[in-house]
Amino acid sequence: MNSVNAGILGTGHSYPEGVLTNADLEKMVDTSDEWITTRTGIKQRRKAAAGEYTSQFAVRASQEAIARAGIDPMEIDLILCATVTPDQILPSTACLIQAELGANKAAAMDIVAACSGFLYGLTMANPMIRGGQIKYALIIGAELLTRYVDYTDRSTCVIFGDGAGAAILGPVDRDHGILAAQIRSDGRYEEQLYAPGGGTKAGFTAETIARGDHFFKMKGNEVFKVAVRSMTEISKNVLCEAGLKTEDVDLFIPHQANQRITDSVGNSLNVDASKVFSNIAQHGNTSSASIPIGLDECVESGRIKKDDIVLLSSFGGGFTWGSVVMRW
Ligand code: ACO
Repeated sequence: MNSVNAGILGTGHSYPEGVLTNADLEKMVDTSDEWITTRTGIKQRRKAAAGEYTSQFAVRASQEAIARAGIDPMEIDLILCATVTPDQILPSTACLIQAELGANKAAAMDIVAACSGFLYGLTMANPMIRGGQIKYALIIGAELLTRYVDYTDRSTCVIFGDGAGAAILGPVDRDHGILAAQIRSDGRYEEQLYAPGGGTKAGFTAETIARGDHFFKMKGNEVFKVAVRSMTEISKNVLCEAGLKTEDVDLFIPHQANQRITDSVGNSLNVDASKVFSNIAQHGNTSSASIPIGLDECVESGRIKKDDIVLLSSFGGGFTWGSVVMRW
């Protein structure tokens, strides 16, 4: 039997300074603040400036998480960076972060699981800490999605924003930390949300770039339906596995995809609206970064308190989805 659980010891987040408002988008595509607000809940999103790149925000978020956990970067055994917008194809963004942090004893790799990447990271590091194989893991979600957004496609460009969040996962007593975690995927839905260019299949040529193959393409209303169903089902599964009921949940932090998805999942789970976190109005959909950013904002504002039951749930391109429940 394990003697420890894995729990979050410190969190951090970082955003670019640049802000893109709905009023800015009204000047770029055929849309309106009214449409964006009622269909998504988004009022503005952050947008990195030319010359900024993903690992810069990941490093800042990580340094905050490390300081809050009160550990030294040399104590980190594993760095998992969830991102679909890496600095470059090789090496991994996690390795670039590892070097910047001076985490010289850590293994480092990226996780490509779109919006579910942070929960994939928590779920994979959890048994390694419980089993004593590692002590501290740095799990990051970092995205500059605005670099892969086609600003002539109104169905995607209003949604995505940039940012990074990070958490140090380490040993806690057995009544706290991660109580249950599950992750899933279904690649048959590839073309509901994808960027076909840039890989070995379509290549990266003047033609693919001119066609905009590197931009995200999404059948939003199809994604919406599967997202609500999958997030609800997997959240129920982890609560059941942990022996908890929805009434036990003190705070629900879903991936910030769309306010209507958040509301639908919260309603289907029967979690009181006052316990459901949302920052989508300010930040839009930041993919893998949205949950660790949400966690850190809740820590900073005092909305998460010791012993609280915190439920996390996500859904993203792949499709991938997951849920984690923890006692803080
Ligand atoms: N402004 C004005 N009109 C628009 C806009 C816009 N920005 N975008 C679409 N429309 C129009 C469409 O053209 C369509 O018009 P039509 O009826 O004349 O054909 C109409 O609005 C309705 O379009 P829908 O796509 O059905 O709109 P919907 O209510 O589904 O909202 C949205 C679209 C916001 C994309 C929603 O479907 C959504 O949030 N989906 C889920 C996204 C998601 O969760 N993605 C996964 C995570 S992201 C990741 O993994 C990287």
